Amino acid sequence: MSAFCVLGIETSCDETGVALYDSDKGLLAHVLHSQIQLHQQYGGVVPELASRDHVNHLVTLVDACLTQAKMEKNNIDAVAYTAGPGLVGALLVGACFAKSLAAALHKPAIAVHHLEAHILAAQLENPHLQYPFLVLLVSGGHTQLIEARELGDYLLLGDTLDDAVGEAFDKTAKLLGIPYPGGATLAEYADNCLPSIRENQSRFPRPMLDRAGFDFSFSGLKTHALQAWQQSAQDAHAMQGIAYAFQEAVLDVLLNKCQKALLQTEVTQLVVAGGVGANKSLRKRLVQMLEPMGANVYFPCPAFCTDNGAMVAYAGYLYFKKQVMDKTLQIQVHPRWSLGANCM
Ligand code: KG4
Ligand code: ZN
Repeated sequence: MSAFCVLGIETSCDETGVALYDSDKGLLAHVLHSQIQLHQQYGGVVPELASRDHVNHLVTLVDACLTQAKMEKNNIDAVAYTAGPGLVGALLVGACFAKSLAAALHKPAIAVHHLEAHILAAQLENPHLQYPFLVLLVSGGHTQLIEARELGDYLLLGDTLDDAVGEAFDKTAKLLGIPYPGGATLAEYADNCLPSIRENQSRFPRPMLDRAGFDFSFSGLKTHALQAWQQSAQDAHAMQGIAYAFQEAVLDVLLNKCQKALLQTEVTQLVVAGGVGANKSLRKRLVQMLEPMGANVYFPCPAFCTDNGAMVAYAGYLYFKKQVMDKTLQIQVHPRWSLGANCM
């Protein structure tokens, strides 16, 4: 197969991401527009505003990406786009745009699974990462432990029964008065918590550690945080202490389940994917835990942990190589799409 270049488009939630991936040269360019400021005043993502904002930015971002890559659109060989899971309107904007562009260029389109793209982001930076590997997928919408056996072959080991980790971080941050999305700020409070405050802070429960299997539950922790906050002086010290106790509880649970999954599957590689993968303490503690186990952990760089176009372009590249593509004009998205279910 001669060299080819895939345009990737991500619009599943509140980030418009566009990237170009070349089979010979790798990632040529990637650009991103975040809608955080747009949604901040509402304390969460407003789906209709998200869709409209994707419409407003897609053309400009594709042009910027082509300029960055010093490329003409006629040199694009396929257009990959996130077909799900995500917000239906936001997905439809990306799908309509991608399929129309592909049709106009007489090129195929490739429907990409958003979570699979997150999983593959680790390979984008570590092309020698071999299957099988375990994936801890921790984002605003998902918390899953997955065994990746091959491209397209994923076994779900565990899932959250309620809130996703990122969602729990954001909701806990919100009840402490930190603006949306407060997850990263809450993590900073936790990391900067003074030793004297840590010592006096009461410990939070470790949900699901007493149960077999790999499922998670995080909604109880935010209730615990709310009670702790209401009983505190509600000052900066209390915020640090609660952030620290919350983060420690979350990380203990995540680490424990990862360790058990690695031992049970005898897989020796762990990939961390999704926005919470940017969490510094999670990274540090996973490295410390896996080293004595003789296992390796891979983290995408923070920019590729959160939603981005590069992971979609890369997933599109892998499927184009396998000749999995769509030449029809039909537009279909899958707001709820479990990993492994075939929707193509
Ligand atoms: O993967 P992502 O960009 O969006 C989804 O597909 O959900 O993840 C965003 C989530 C948000 O909930 C955000 O608060 C969380 O990742 N997040 C963090 C950190 N950075 C982002 N959570 C904890 N610690 C961080 N450093
Ligand atoms: Zn995501």
